[in-house]
This record gives sequence, structure tokens and C-alpha cells, in this order.
Amino acid sequence: MNDEKKKQALAEEDKRIENSISKIKHRIAVFSGKGGVGKTTVSVNLAYGFQLNGFASGILDADITGPNVAKMLDVKDQVIVLNEKIIPFEKYGVKMISIASLIDPGQPVIWRGPMRSKVINQFLADVDWGELEYLIADLPPGTGDEILTIAQKMKPQYAVIVTTPQDVSVIDAERAINMARKLEIPFIGVVENMSGFVCPHCGAVVNIFGEGGGKRLADEFGVPFLGSIPIDIDARISGDSGKPVVLNKPTGEVSEAFTSIVASIENHFKEEQLSSNAMHADEKQ
Ligand SMILES: Nc1ncnc2c1ncn2[C@@H]1O[C@H](COP(=O)(O)OP(=O)(O)OP(=O)(O)O)[C@@H](O)[C@H]1O
Ligand SMILES: [Mg+2]
Repeated sequence: MNDEKKKQALAEEDKRIENSISKIKHRIAVFSGKGGVGKTTVSVNLAYGFQLNGFASGILDADITGPNVAKMLDVKDQVIVLNEKIIPFEKYGVKMISIASLIDPGQPVIWRGPMRSKVINQFLADVDWGELEYLIADLPPGTGDEILTIAQKMKPQYAVIVTTPQDVSVIDAERAINMARKLEIPFIGVVENMSGFVCPHCGAVVNIFGEGGGKRLADEFGVPFLGSIPIDIDARISGDSGKPVVLNKPTGEVSEAFTSIVASIENHFKEEQLSSNAMHADEKQ
């Protein structure tokens, strides 16, 4: 492809992305500095939390080299392409797309940044998301190309930063917050995952990863603290079994924590809508 044609193809892709995201009302990016702190668990349960409240939701697995969303939803099929559009999977009523459904199981994805960004562009431009109230992008750890691409193309209005209470995670989460600010994502909230473990035998709380790191981080940066999710065996089992904990054990402590975080995010968007309505009303007068 010559340069002119390449430029044209990119411009057309951008148009398709614009068209796609114009139909997705609330776009949220979930990231952290550190790996393994629970981004995918949070992404999936937020999406199902919104869905349980009656909002059409989707999950975009933006972790191209370590895609886990398909596993956490037990989706094993390959995607279908229809009329040049990729049809997202629908599991328990939530739409989902992941590179894991486009490659052979267990195969590594050894791609440089631009290739990974290309796949994310395609997930936005060519997946038939339809009308959605919430789309959650589950990002890989760190502050690499994927978050840059999601910020520029998906234009999330909300960044959810996930951290465990422990210092090594909080320090990396600081980077993630600074990244969200640099990328001008308008709103940032912190979730602390893997907080106190409640012993099922004696009921004592054991703070395996320390205590309060997420709240301290949020206070330090002046951003809302959305809540803590305890370490819980059901959260881990649900992740491995492919049924999100908010569906699997809706009355447990973990689900209650997710319900409250979902409510905070919904309230934020509601309030924003109200203030935008009020501004428009003022302008008309
Ligand atoms: N609150 C929790 N209680 C118990 N287990 C949890 C909890 N949160 C996450 N896990 C488990 O910890 C592991 C890591 O979680 P997850 O995959 O969500 O992290 P991640 O930040 O997305 O990781 P990566 O950086 O590799 O993408 C998973 O096995 C998950 O089921
Ligand atoms: Mg993950």
C-alpha cells in the first residue's frame, strides 16, 4: 500500500471508530501500574454490575498479550465475521471481544506496540457493538501503547485505577493516575482490590497486602475512592470458572463491594448529565 492509500485507510478507520463510539454512552478504562492486582476481575464485574442494573454493557479486552477476559467468561469459540463486521460474543447478556477468540488457545502474541494498537483500533472500528450504555476496556499492566490507543481512540470519560493496598502496587498506581491525567481522561476513581481477608473459620480479618493503600492514594491525588474489594475465595473461583462473582454469588461481601462501586460510577454519570442539562438550559435562556 502506498503512503496515500495508507493515509486514506487510516482516516476511514478513524471514521468507523467515531461512528462506533458515538453509540456507546459511557466509556471506562480499567488499568493499574502493576500486574495481577485484579484489573480483569474488576472490569468483568463492573460490566455485569451495570448489566444487572438494566444497562446494556460490553467489555473490550485491551490486554493483547495477556488476554484473560475470555477465560473469565468461559468463552472458547472463535469470533464470527458478518458483512465485514466482527460480531462480539454475548455471555450472560454482556458483549465481549478478546484477541483470545481470534488466535489458537495457548499461543503467545509476540507483537510490538503498533501491532497491538492496530488490534485495539480494529476492536473499536470493526466490532459491531451496537448501542451500549457502558463499555469497559480491560487494559494490561503498565502504561504502554494500549492505554495510549484506548485514550486516543475510545476516548474514555472515566479511568478506574486498580491497586492492592500494598506499597509496590500503590507506587505503580500513582504512575497510572498520572498517565490518566496526561491523557486527559476526564474523571478518575480508585478501587482497592485484595483488601482484608476474612478467615472463614474464625472470622478474623487478615490484611495480607496491608491496609488502606487505595484510600491514601485517592486522598493524595484528590480523586474519589470508589471502594475496597476483599480477598475472597469466591472471587477467585468465579474468575476461574467463567462466571463473574456478581452473578455467581450476588449476596456475598465481594458482590456487595462491586454493587457499591457500580452505584458510585452510575451516580457520577447521572450527576454529570444533570449538570450538562442545567448548563444547556442556562445557555438557552
Ligand atoms: N478480590 C479477590 N479475591 C480473590 N482473588 C482475586 C481477587 N481479585 C482477583 N483475584 C484473582 O487474582 C488473579 C489476578 O486477578 P486478575 O487477572 O483480575 O488481575 P489483573 O490485574 O487483570 O492481572 P494482569 O495484570 O495479568 O492482567 C486471578 O486469578 C483472580 O481470580
Ligand atoms: Mg488482566
